[in-house]
Amino acid sequence: MSYLKWRREIYEPLKKLSVITWIPYFGTKYIFMGVKREELFSYAINLVKQHSPLFCVWSGTEPEIAVTTPEHLEIIMNNSDHITKGNQYQKLLPWLGQGLLTSTGERWFQHRKLITPTFHFKILEHFMEVFVEKTGALLKILDTKANGEAFNAYPDITHCALDIICETAMGVQINAMSSKQNEYVASVYGISEIVVWRMLRPYITDFMFKLSSKSYDFKHHLNVLHGFTRKVIKERKELLKTTKTEDSKAQPDEDELLGKKKRKSFLDMLLEVSNAGQVLNDQDIAEEVDTFMFEGHDTTTAGISWSLFLLGNHPEIQERLYEEVSSVVGDKLTPTSIADLHELKYLECCIKESLRLYPSVPFIGRTLQQEITLDGHRIPAGVQAALHIYVVHRNPKYYPNPDKFDPDRFLPENCHGRHPYAYIPFSAGPRNCIGQKFAMYEEKTILAAIIKNFKITSMERKENVKITADLILRPLNGVIIKLEKRKKI
Ligand code: HEM
Repeated sequence: MSYLKWRREIYEPLKKLSVITWIPYFGTKYIFMGVKREELFSYAINLVKQHSPLFCVWSGTEPEIAVTTPEHLEIIMNNSDHITKGNQYQKLLPWLGQGLLTSTGERWFQHRKLITPTFHFKILEHFMEVFVEKTGALLKILDTKANGEAFNAYPDITHCALDIICETAMGVQINAMSSKQNEYVASVYGISEIVVWRMLRPYITDFMFKLSSKSYDFKHHLNVLHGFTRKVIKERKELLKTTKTEDSKAQPDEDELLGKKKRKSFLDMLLEVSNAGQVLNDQDIAEEVDTFMFEGHDTTTAGISWSLFLLGNHPEIQERLYEEVSSVVGDKLTPTSIADLHELKYLECCIKESLRLYPSVPFIGRTLQQEITLDGHRIPAGVQAALHIYVVHRNPKYYPNPDKFDPDRFLPENCHGRHPYAYIPFSAGPRNCIGQKFAMYEEKTILAAIIKNFKITSMERKENVKITADLILRPLNGVIIKLEKRKKI
């Protein structure tokens, strides 16, 4: 595009919203230069709050509007014209390819239609066994650490969530909880850090990146992550072939197939709908599995960890929760059915409030496909939009005293009249999170079990906790807690 055309069609309409001085090549992203990693998130959030409700930043000549109000978020998220993700997601493509999170258009629509039934309630009910089994193993690990000494529970929660997602997504046990060092986990962290590093430095071109040492690390992590999922898919295909031959004699009904002995993983279901490569080929399946593996463990780990952190800072809320969990779970160590989980209403309020204060995905990006008007400002098609979940969740208009942890905000009577886009931890509209029920069930099972068996004390206060947003919002130093046993496990 010529300079004059850019100026007329892109710059002029956005001039009034461009509140930060623009400089050639860098645009406005230079403001992040030199900000330390541990300060970056709060620096960025303060900037967004300062210029709310709507403003524009620039990566070179490319504009990005910051969207922070429920009304504006609804205009974009609830419109199927704007389902294309932002340019930042391109940095995820080498890892996640064209999986559900990153794809768009007809491909996304078709895949979403195919994959939605795999999150059916009946299937999730069978995953409950996995949640319960892995939570039991986690309790044993935590029991050895409940000795009055502070420790970081984040790695334990990560390993548990990873064991759960590996078994439910791929039908394999990687035993992350029992093996101390896990190459897969290390590579998830390694690659996330490099992707974020690149997102914050749009002025580093692909060519410059290829010459850097980070590019070598990136390739290494990619090989680990892809190598693992491809190997599992290959083995699973072989297994499915053998089982099919044996089962063709027996003809089991659907309930039996979903039953304990033959619980299907997402991968099994994808292989079934793939119609021998005609609907989904091996590459498509691998990309969807990689996406589940990423979206399905890091997000829940962060959610559970922030809940522990907040409950450990609020003993009175923790006791109220303990009463509820004890009355539902009785003598059991954990909830064991979805019916149990549905009864844990106050726990649900606590999880929702934790996700309000610390949404695992603090903002998401879209590329606007059509021109829109926000607050009378014309926003041209092609502009990037950063949808600020974290900022809308702390808007005092919807949440008085917004930094306070107050689970009662989510009692049904207190939600009446709240704008539906004022609470969007799982995004909203056609591109909302496909795994939100899975996530809530997993979080409820693990948190109920921990609350039932231990008293939690957080060693860090809310005012001091450092946050990092390496793709997912997490506590920079992990979640440092002390546990006291309620009774012997
Ligand atoms: C607390 C846990 C979770 C949170 C807060 C969360 C949040 C989100 C958000 C905000 C999005 C939209 C992202 C974007 O537009 O860039 C999303 C998408 C997605 N999530 Fe989750 N998620 C969670 C757990 C899960 C789980 C457990 C799974 C899978 C088992 C999952 C699978 C996905 C997938 C596949 C997408 C892409 C959906 C699409 O675009 O069609 N998520 N999630």
